[in-house]
Amino acid sequence: MDHLDITQPDDWHLHVRDGDFLKTVVPHTAQHFARAVIMPNLKEPITTTQMALAYKERILKSVPSHMTFEPLMTLYLTDHIKPSEMAVAKANGIVALKLYPAGATTNSDLGVTKLSHIYPVLEEMQKHGLLLLVHGEVTDPAIDVFDREAVFIDRQLAPLRRDFPGLKIVFEHITTQEARDYVKSVDSGLAATLTAHHLLLNRNAIFKGGLRPHYYCLPVLKRETHRLALLEAATSGDARFFLGTDSAPHLASLKEHASACAGCYTAPVAMSLYASAFDAVGQLDQLERFASLNGPAFYGLPNNSAQLRLTKSTHQVQAAYPYGLGELKPLFAGETLEWSAQLI
Ligand code: NCD
Ligand code: ZN
Repeated sequence: MDHLDITQPDDWHLHVRDGDFLKTVVPHTAQHFARAVIMPNLKEPITTTQMALAYKERILKSVPSHMTFEPLMTLYLTDHIKPSEMAVAKANGIVALKLYPAGATTNSDLGVTKLSHIYPVLEEMQKHGLLLLVHGEVTDPAIDVFDREAVFIDRQLAPLRRDFPGLKIVFEHITTQEARDYVKSVDSGLAATLTAHHLLLNRNAIFKGGLRPHYYCLPVLKRETHRLALLEAATSGDARFFLGTDSAPHLASLKEHASACAGCYTAPVAMSLYASAFDAVGQLDQLERFASLNGPAFYGLPNNSAQLRLTKSTHQVQAAYPYGLGELKPLFAGETLEWSAQLI
């Protein structure tokens, strides 16, 4: 197969930051994706509907005039968010709330310290049909970094599902066989997003020939058995798994640093990477479900009408992009990719 046309995809998990940075990253997503779920973990997190609507306007201002793009906005759960905010959020088109266990990842310090603190909020979300997006890692320092996702399932996700059976939950950027199996064991109300990098790489990438900070993200890459389990789920056609790049831009100077920031910047190359991952296992015919159909079905939104063409033609990934006063390096910078993507 040398090309494949699919319904235009959406990115169900994306970081675009704010201010001048938007000008660099928003066009990279908008050139391929119709919509994206915008993560609220700014330095000052997006905790109210009013903040989310203002942020949405700033994002829309960064969309080049020849592109169309719809940011799907989310709010950041804190211990102090008000249950009454949920009705306001729903009425203003907010699609979901994001749960960051406090301290789990970039800008999560104001996240939730104990799930019981937000039970009244979860009750309201369930009532109004707002989705819960979870960063599924425990923060207990006694738990090995590589085990934090699996432990999260038993300690937090399973009790949460028991207490809120009507709440739609997305287990974001899953990285382990345990998470895949858990999602598969649940018939309705639970889905998972998968990043391109977790489908293509295992944890060896972080250490190949020296410490490589551009491969460092959270949840951290896992061993090969997990990658294979995730790839199986993504390419199986199972409606519970869909695309979320978790593209997470950081200044190159903060990635190439003694305490490197977590996050892989994949937005410009994401569709090439997913196509390569699916192609490698002979499952390109499942890419449309994963990238374009399963996500809208879970969120209760219509499919897109435009088409994206994936072509098997090599291209070189740009080395870096201007980013604020510094630069931004995409994952696989300078390397050659096998697939190219273009809206038709
Ligand atoms: C994300 C970021 O930089 O905002 N980083 C990452 O490694 N994925 C936060 C997150 O999604 O955990
Ligand atoms: Zn993320």
